[in-house]
Amino acid sequence: MNVLDELQNLREEALNQLRDADDADDIERVRVRFLGREGSVTLILRGIGDLPPEERADVGRLGNQVKGEMEDAIEEARSRVEEKKRQRHMREETLDVTSPGRRDFYGRRHPITVALEEILGVMVGMGYSVETGPEVETDWYNFTGLNIPPDHPARDMQDSFYINDFLVLRTQTSPVQLRYMKKVAPDLPVRIVGPGRVFRRGDDDASHSPVFYQCEALLVDEGITFGHLRGTLMDFARRLLGDEVDVRIRPSYFPFTEPSAEVDISCTVCGGPGCSTCSNTGFLEIGGAGMVHPQVLTNGGYDPEQVSGFAFGMGVDRMAMLKYAIPDIRYLYQNDVRFLRQL
Ligand code: DAH
Repeated sequence: MNVLDELQNLREEALNQLRDADDADDIERVRVRFLGREGSVTLILRGIGDLPPEERADVGRLGNQVKGEMEDAIEEARSRVEEKKRQRHMREETLDVTSPGRRDFYGRRHPITVALEEILGVMVGMGYSVETGPEVETDWYNFTGLNIPPDHPARDMQDSFYINDFLVLRTQTSPVQLRYMKKVAPDLPVRIVGPGRVFRRGDDDASHSPVFYQCEALLVDEGITFGHLRGTLMDFARRLLGDEVDVRIRPSYFPFTEPSAEVDISCTVCGGPGCSTCSNTGFLEIGGAGMVHPQVLTNGGYDPEQVSGFAFGMGVDRMAMLKYAIPDIRYLYQNDVRFLRQL
């Protein structure tokens, strides 16, 4: 093959490769191969002097022409891949200034905390002060002092976590009543709320958790009657949930009150006729109540002939579930932010 044909072939080859080149590296490889210091076209031009004199002019002319065409094609290929790259960036880095901003999640109060703060807010507004007791409680304060002696069947209802024979994770906030009375007796009036965490081994389903919150209330003074209890519960429920709610008191049994009652409030979800939240009864149980048992007053350092009192205890989780329509109490304790941030 003579040199002129070779140049034509090289031109063909180089232009094809440049057309297929995808990026700057591809193009540079083509340039080096044909026009670099050892490139095939460069070598031909450099070797013109060795050719027979009659071929030199033609080869020189075509060689330079091919070189020029290759240079142009390289330039063209470079701007083509450059433009392609720019387009891709434009596509990938589009900024939609109309899309809503992403907000940081700073956290917020837990639903139980919110419910508890509302309950305490109402009770403090009614003149009660906040008192707390230990979560690891003695058997006496948690049971015996509250009229639940060893072997009393009421202990079965509060299947407990015992630390040893004398210490138990409290199963209720009622021991706060005793602790406070013993601390201030014989001062009157006694008017406290006792919020806190309680523990029960057997509780574990959609409406029972082995760890949950209660809030206790205790009022002791001269001449306190069941009517005061009823009025207080009514006032409390309405301040907390609104004037339209109703309170229902059903006879019940607790060892530390006599008489004892179960306290229900009208269902805030359906407003009365019945729905799935209230099991079609129109009411929801929120806790227990009663007139403080004379023995408990005595244990607290008060004379049941002189004073009387009422107490009630409610489930805080139950209140939070009502407020936020939470179907399973265990959601409150799993600390899954996907759940918590919805509230
Ligand atoms: N401590 C009881 C419970 O855990 C609730 C309760 C009932 C509290 C009657 C009271 C009360 O103060 O008077 O089930």
